[in-house]
Amino acid sequence: MDIKEAINERHSVRQYKDIPIDPETVAKLRALITECNEESGLKFQLITNDPDCFNVFFAHYGMNFRNAVNYVALVGKKDKPDLEEKCGFFGEKIVLETQMMGLNTCWVAGTYSKKKSKVNIQDDEKLVCIIAIGYGENQGRAHKSKPVEKLCKVDLNTAPDWFKEGVDAALKAPTAINQQKFVITLEGAEAKIISKGGAMTKIDLGIVKYNFAAASGHEVK
Ligand SMILES: Cc1cc2nc3c(=O)[nH]c(=O)nc-3n(C[C@H](O)[C@H](O)[C@H](O)COP(=O)(O)O)c2cc1C
Repeated sequence: MDIKEAINERHSVRQYKDIPIDPETVAKLRALITECNEESGLKFQLITNDPDCFNVFFAHYGMNFRNAVNYVALVGKKDKPDLEEKCGFFGEKIVLETQMMGLNTCWVAGTYSKKKSKVNIQDDEKLVCIIAIGYGENQGRAHKSKPVEKLCKVDLNTAPDWFKEGVDAALKAPTAINQQKFVITLEGAEAKIISKGGAMTKIDLGIVKYNFAAASGHEVK
């Protein structure tokens, strides 16, 4: 599976098989997280076998996580500039690489317990959100997207192919409550994505930028 297939096939999965991640894959995930931390200066941690983190009243009630016990905790220094956006960007890299390893994921910012989780956070650090990881009971399904005209202010009939590929991938990116509060433009030869603001939109922005860049091969402002 290549990165574009991973973008197409990734959907949030909240029900997992009751089996541990095989040790070889755990080692690969750890190496990937170390690589991301070295590049970004973030402090992501892989936590396995921690069911309590997902054991919250409203998670049972609404969102239906089942056998969710493994996750990546997206942690960084509180004073790091653009902490949320960077967590989104590097978190999505991990999500897509994880999909390519045959696992499934779900971004989780609300329906988990920071207090009960095994994450180790220093006083000068913040836990931004987590990404659940496991072997899905299902593959999830494609989210309903806003129409492309709402999310992209460029005439796609005249836009370069790389830009169209980037837009397609951006529309498939996960966003909190599927809010898709972003706008894509073209400034000269460079793509620019801005956030319309609101809760969790900074994390979303990093995620959407990663999808665009990974599919188009072009950096995003
Ligand atoms: C920053 C962020 C936070 C999220 N928080 C939660 C959450 O707390 N609980 C949950 O069940 N899903 C959560 N999601 C998953 C979104 O609901 C999901 O990505 C969105 O509906 C789009 O669906 P898809 O991921 O299947 O494409 C979150 C997603 C993002 C990007």
